[in-house]
Amino acid sequence: MAQRCTVTVCRDCCCGSRTKHPAVDHDAQIDRLRAELEPEHRIRTSLCLDVCSQSNAIVVQPAPEARRRGARPVWFGLVLDDTVLDDLITWVRDGGPGNADLPAVLELSVISPPTV
Ligand code: FES
Repeated sequence: MAQRCTVTVCRDCCCGSRTKHPAVDHDAQIDRLRAELEPEHRIRTSLCLDVCSQSNAIVVQPAPEARRRGARPVWFGLVLDDTVLDDLITWVRDGGPGNADLPAVLELSVISPPTV
């Protein structure tokens, strides 16, 4: 099966922190992403992505064919509730970057990647 999007879920000092976000079930977020998107899409966790003030951060990387057409990763911040996660899952299922328009409501959660 061809791999489609890769969803990188930051889990380090702030993203996934019960101290910083005690009301969020962080493990459940990853469980849901895996249950809803694998195996068509890849879910992975990462160390700090340097956008801690926007935790929890998630990056959706385009499918390889979309990337070849110029699609770029989309960064999301403050992914702390089920509604945003639902919208993100739906968008990835629809094809993600380069394959599906980003819903307006999800645009509100887009953040800029850190500058190098
Ligand atoms: S821990 Fe996620 S951006 Fe720092």
